[in-house]
Amino acid sequence: MAKVKTPIINTDRNAPYYEGMGGTNPYVQQDTPSPATRKFTITFQPMNVTVEVDPERIPYGDTGRPGSILDIALAHGIELDHACGGVCACSTCHCVVREGLETCSEMSDAEDEELSYAPGLTPNSRLGCQTVPDGTRNLVVEVPGWNRNIVRESH
Ligand code: FES
Repeated sequence: MAKVKTPIINTDRNAPYYEGMGGTNPYVQQDTPSPATRKFTITFQPMNVTVEVDPERIPYGDTGRPGSILDIALAHGIELDHACGGVCACSTCHCVVREGLETCSEMSDAEDEELSYAPGLTPNSRLGCQTVPDGTRNLVVEVPGWNRNIVRESH
């Protein structure tokens, strides 16, 4: 039997993360994690690029949760796919948090479900657009070379 997704429609127009379009997903309702309040670094592998995250500049852009791995990566020229625009509706931003996973926001049910479609899952896999480090330690994040968008619809 096919698994049927039941969208959770957020009707709270005052929700800080789920207002309107452009970086939000009205079909997903979840808590908004607090971004880092102190400087830390993320080393992206395999390109071996280390970027310093300045909490004063969060959010860097409007793609992904503010202060998310995707938000930080894109601001520093790190290629991390994001086919849905960072709204937890694909799995192309799949990354593997090799170090510092314990300092990242908890995985929501929505992230867990989308992540399940990503190839090459590991116990440290996360969606970059949903994962917000709290900045209490430096991270090492691997960007899989085989990320791809998997189009799927249920009818
Ligand atoms: S960019 Fe689509 S789920 Fe992260």
